[in-house]
Amino acid sequence: MKPIVPAIIASFAFALPVSAQDIEKGEKEFKRCRACHAIASEDETFVKGGKTGPNLYGIIGRTAGSVEGFKYSPELVELGGGGLVWDETNLLEYIADPNTFIGGRSKMTKQKVKNGPDLAAFLATFSEGASSDPGEAAEETAD
Ligand code: HEC
Repeated sequence: MKPIVPAIIASFAFALPVSAQDIEKGEKEFKRCRACHAIASEDETFVKGGKTGPNLYGIIGRTAGSVEGFKYSPELVELGGGGLVWDETNLLEYIADPNTFIGGRSKMTKQKVKNGPDLAAFLATFSEGASSDPGEAAEETAD
């Protein structure tokens, strides 16, 4: 295990602008996702999870459908090929209704989340240099 990685993540979390987002809440919310998704870098597993869905390490800022060896639905791969990169806004749109988002039959079912922006902020802590502006995401997804 390389101790430097958590150090970067910790400092990144603290460097976030003061915002309504609560990363701890987001971490709890991720329990809904763990059945199918792990969060693991090459040398460290941050959240153990199932393998039904792709690894979500670095998902914010990552091209859609780009985990090598994972069998995505073709529509998602196409969106990635067309330049779709996950951010804290489109990720929440996606999980709320994957079929509509990709315009096809997704391998992921709709996920109801209570604290979407917190979840997105939590996921962003696993992305180096993600453009983290959770405030903006919160505005756009607020009902
Ligand atoms: C029942 C299993 C399951 C659960 C629960 C689940 N997912 Fe997924 N997820 C998948 C599968 C399967 C895919 C691949 C979808 C496809 O290929 O169409 C996916 C894809 C994704 C992607 C796109 C990944 C990429 O590499 O482009 C994101 C983002 C994502 N899930 C986030 C979440 C979040 C956040 C949660 C919790 C709120 C969640 N998922 C819960 C199965 C699941």
